[in-house]
Amino acid sequence: MATVSKHDVAGRYCVIDDESAFLEVARARLSHYLPGLTGSFTSEPSDALKMASTNPRILYIIDVRLGAQNGIDLFNDIARISPRARVIFITGDTAFIDDENMREKALSRGGIDFIEKPVKWHELAIKIQNHLKLIEYQFDLEEKVQERTQMLIHADRLATIGTMVSSIVHEVNSPLTFIKANQETILLMLKQIRAECGNVENRHLIDKTIVPSLNDSIKGVRQIEDLLKSFRRFYKQEKTLTAIDIMAIIEDVRTLTLYNIRKQSIVFTITNRSREALEVWGNKQELIQAVTNIVNNAIDAFEGSAVKTKRIEMTLEKNKDHLVMTISNNGPKIPQHIADNIFEPFFTTKSEEKGTGLGLVIVRQIMKGMGGDIMMRNKDDDRQVVEFICTIPLYRERKRGK
Ligand SMILES: Nc1ncnc2c1ncn2[C@@H]1O[C@H](COP(=O)(O)OP(=O)(O)OP(=O)(O)O)[C@@H](O)[C@H]1O
Ligand SMILES: [Mg+2]
Repeated sequence: MATVSKHDVAGRYCVIDDESAFLEVARARLSHYLPGLTGSFTSEPSDALKMASTNPRILYIIDVRLGAQNGIDLFNDIARISPRARVIFITGDTAFIDDENMREKALSRGGIDFIEKPVKWHELAIKIQNHLKLIEYQFDLEEKVQERTQMLIHADRLATIGTMVSSIVHEVNSPLTFIKANQETILLMLKQIRAECGNVENRHLIDKTIVPSLNDSIKGVRQIEDLLKSFRRFYKQEKTLTAIDIMAIIEDVRTLTLYNIRKQSIVFTITNRSREALEVWGNKQELIQAVTNIVNNAIDAFEGSAVKTKRIEMTLEKNKDHLVMTISNNGPKIPQHIADNIFEPFFTTKSEEKGTGLGLVIVRQIMKGMGGDIMMRNKDDDRQVVEFICTIPLYRERKRGK
């Protein structure tokens, strides 16, 4: 199972000084001023190097004079292992304090500060806290940028599929148009032949076999047309926002997911409890994409399940000025440790070919973009179901509120 990368707990610092008396005071004072942070105190440069290779989020506080070794050189070694490590240098050496070149050298290589002995511990504690916050912030930003980049790559791949689908739709549509025209002409001519036909057997053949088969194939062509129309609506790169009739969206989603619904013999029901047209404001394609993602997840949930009658139910209702759309399935309930992560980017319990773990992240983004949200709950009353509940402001109410 691929899970979201969660970093180690923040708030670690490491003090390195060759004077054991200084280290003892540092341990006592910093632990006192920074009770929530984990500090390491060592006189061994090798300990610091070990830490650098296991946790890049540590802030180092290093004495410039480390017995035989120079603190600046030690930090260079640390930075080679952990390039984003940061350091505050400490020195009681007046030669260093007066040497501008040395100070510049210290601050130019990942050094963010240097302080003089005797150390003002409370001040150092505040600096450690501030710098650790900045380090955390930098890491979080980098992680977000990485996530977003992955999402963009995924979106780009989808856009490529969209272009391919558009050309397939176009190519299929042209022959379909003349197949349909021919079918209608044949039906019309057949009716004329039937009217003029004196042979009872042939008339029977026309009525009982030819016309019903032709009508079946006309129906089949219409189904393909509907599917192509749904595809076209879904992949049309439109950025426009409009009032959207939610039932029309659901019909498109039904068409787009019909194959898998039938393949798994799922009973798919749609109920509009409000008994009125429900309109929301947003981008049609995005909404189709969001609802399709939820329905596809519900279909996937039945994989390997022993449920006798597989059901997916979509319920629409009005709650004050919001549409509440619930998509539920009677597949296995989602255990808490999975439920806690389903809206995290790249969290998936599916195989690599099957899931990227972006579906629900995109759904939530789309819902939030429409001023709504989505939540999940395991319902466990008379029968067990997994529910995804989308709440979106209704268009009419929005207009009225303006
Ligand atoms: N209806 C559901 N029943 C059970 N588990 C679900 C359901 N919907 C989502 N999940 C869980 O949430 C996880 C994340 O879903 P999400 O749609 O974000 O990604 P995915 O389906 O794994 O991959 P994809 O990016 O292809 O959609 C799923 O892997 C699954 O474990
Ligand atoms: Mg999914």
